[in-house]
Amino acid sequence: MDIVEIKEAIDKAIENYLYEKEPSNLYEAVKYLPFAGGKRLRPLIACLACEAVGGNFVNALPLAVALELIHTFTLVHDDIMDKDEERRGMPAVHVKFGESTAILAGDTLFAKAFEVASAIKDAEIAKKILRNLAIMAKEICEGQQLDIEFEEMEYVEESQFLEMIEKKTARMFEQAAMGGAIVGRGKREEIEALQKYGLNLGMAFQIWDDCLDVIGKDIGKPVGSDIREGKKTLLYIYAYEKAENKEWLKYYGKEDANDEEVQKIIKFFEEIGAIEYAKEKAREYSKKAIDALKILPESEAKKELIKLSEFAIEREK
Ligand code: IPE
Ligand code: IPE
Ligand code: MG
Ligand code: MG
Ligand code: MG
Repeated sequence: MDIVEIKEAIDKAIENYLYEKEPSNLYEAVKYLPFAGGKRLRPLIACLACEAVGGNFVNALPLAVALELIHTFTLVHDDIMDKDEERRGMPAVHVKFGESTAILAGDTLFAKAFEVASAIKDAEIAKKILRNLAIMAKEICEGQQLDIEFEEMEYVEESQFLEMIEKKTARMFEQAAMGGAIVGRGKREEIEALQKYGLNLGMAFQIWDDCLDVIGKDIGKPVGSDIREGKKTLLYIYAYEKAENKEWLKYYGKEDANDEEVQKIIKFFEEIGAIEYAKEKAREYSKKAIDALKILPESEAKKELIKLSEFAIEREK
């Protein structure tokens, strides 16, 4: 078992499961993002969690692919909602294929995910995983709805923000780690440990993503997009609470803000300590994720899971 081998198996499985061809415009749009790169974090976590409890990662591939397809579906729709035109360093699906086809491509990826997950061999386990994936998908929609509603609000509590990112992002990492452990027939406490790992890693991952939106370079998607869209990130919430002068708010959420105005906000976030605050929070979640793995026996897979949690808060894209 090495991570390169697992990644290759995931890519191959994605290719095998996406076999449809007609209508060609739809399936070109469906296949466009999965083959445009992507870090494959969720499927990797599912496979590693399976190995970490003594299973064979091959059995986790249907779950792994299903997660990557659901993830891709959320990205396609997310870029329409967030009005972002670039993804994985390429034009977003709705830019390349038009909005209607992008919506349908997202729907198709979502449906395919459940078809793929139903290939899990053990019927009892398959039933459990399908149910968990359905609940997770519903929660992603709830989180995305909150994310959008927050755009129109001047202030949200940190606890509201945490609930929103738990739903839109962390639940999928939770299901990756927990699902992998279930498929690998882990013991109850191992499944719970991996669930905790995934959830905390997911929180760290999204908070770091919000930081990258302001400090990132070449992240394969537009920088400053959260500022133009008025997203209520931890950076915003912290700055809102700290700053007495609310002058900066007139640029926040200004869709046609120019680069200079966006830079002003970024500089202000930096000076007021908002970026450091968010980074520290992300580090705390990442640490909690790693701590949760303590009860697992030592293994290569466990080491890789620890590395992924460190990567979540060090990554540059
Ligand atoms: C982007 O996820 C969406 C978020 C939850 C922030 P990733 O950063 O994992 O996207 P890819 O798959 O590597 O493109
Ligand atoms: C990602 O949130 C959440 C989902 C896609 C479900 P973002 O909107 O921050 O993701 P990016 O920055 O566009 O990748
Ligand atoms: Mg979004
Ligand atoms: Mg987005
Ligand atoms: Mg983002």
